[in-house]
Amino acid sequence: MKTIKDVNLSGKRVFIRVDFNVPLDEKLNITDDTRINFVLPTLKYAIENKAILIIASHLGRPKGKVSPQFSLAPVAKLLGAYIGKEIKMASDCIGPEVNSLISSMSEGDALLLENLRFHPEEEKNDDTFAKELALLCDVYVNDAFAVSHRANASVAAITEHAPVSVAGLLLQKELEYFEKAMTNPRRPLVAVVGGAKVSTKLAALENMIQRVDKLIIGGAMANTFLKSQGIDVGSSKVEEDLLEIAASTIKKAYEKGVKLYLPVDGVAADSFSPDAGTKIVPVFEIPKGWMVLDIGPATSMLFSEALNDANTIIWNGPLGAFEMDPFSKGTMAMVNALADSHALTIVGGGDTDLAVHKANKADKMTFISTGGGAFLELLEGKTLPAVAALEKAQQKTV
Ligand code: 3PG
Repeated sequence: MKTIKDVNLSGKRVFIRVDFNVPLDEKLNITDDTRINFVLPTLKYAIENKAILIIASHLGRPKGKVSPQFSLAPVAKLLGAYIGKEIKMASDCIGPEVNSLISSMSEGDALLLENLRFHPEEEKNDDTFAKELALLCDVYVNDAFAVSHRANASVAAITEHAPVSVAGLLLQKELEYFEKAMTNPRRPLVAVVGGAKVSTKLAALENMIQRVDKLIIGGAMANTFLKSQGIDVGSSKVEEDLLEIAASTIKKAYEKGVKLYLPVDGVAADSFSPDAGTKIVPVFEIPKGWMVLDIGPATSMLFSEALNDANTIIWNGPLGAFEMDPFSKGTMAMVNALADSHALTIVGGGDTDLAVHKANKADKMTFISTGGGAFLELLEGKTLPAVAALEKAQQKTV
């Protein structure tokens, strides 16, 4: 795929679509700047190469209406500090004010457009809106991996109208690392899948069974798998309607020769609360009325031993209710196992990313994806619509 490094940016209006969908507190302070940090290389590259830089993003889900709490203004401030120059902020993403701001810009200047999702047309992948965005630029750059699973105007339809469409350095990195992990891995390849629901991970599990050597399942979703094997999981969260599917997933893994690991013990709690009474029990002895909220120490040991010979590890989803301290040990043990591993380690998904940061081990992972839904769709084996659009446009233009 052609990237920003393959085109001449000097004096060109370069529209960079990023994903600044960052968490804000009630005072509109940014509480996690990972997504901003990760696109700095692309933005700095464009500035150094004398682009007239137009940055666009969505923030939150304002449902097509102008809503001040979803303004990108807090990002403009922080971004200016990180880049070391003023980032002008437009009050919209299209229209006369935007046009006049851009026409007064010089090489190396940067402008942040207001939230694309203030226009309902963005999420409808509206062609006229996409054309208006495309008219702002000479070069279009998609560096918004985390929203590339959405067929939205600024990542999909825009590529039909922009004179040149290329990938940003983050999008390139995300796709390259994913390819290294899932398409062309150094084996053994081990996938660790956690999180609350089997339903949200089913398609990913199906796809991964075709590709991995070992599959480790933890988190609340493991309860459904355990119950599907006749184990009484007490009051633990279970998706009753998926018991048969869980059982058939286990069978498929067996038939494919994939080693599947489920918890053998857990931290059982008498309520879903950080102050709950807790005990560590084997999965066969979960007390009636108690729920499992974390994997137990024997499971942590089993899982980390399963990672010992791995050359590639891909992890999505926490192994317990790690946001509550008494139930965070299993997830933290997994963070440490990955951090200590010599394998290529790829981590994706908001909660997993949070756990790694909480443990201060982000720099010990090979790569942490900025995508939640987008990462999951790659795990499902899907082609992201925005990436498909970019590839199609490149066949025509670059
Ligand atoms: C994300 O945070 O996963 C992306 O920015 C996409 O946001 P969305 O789920 O609101 O489309």
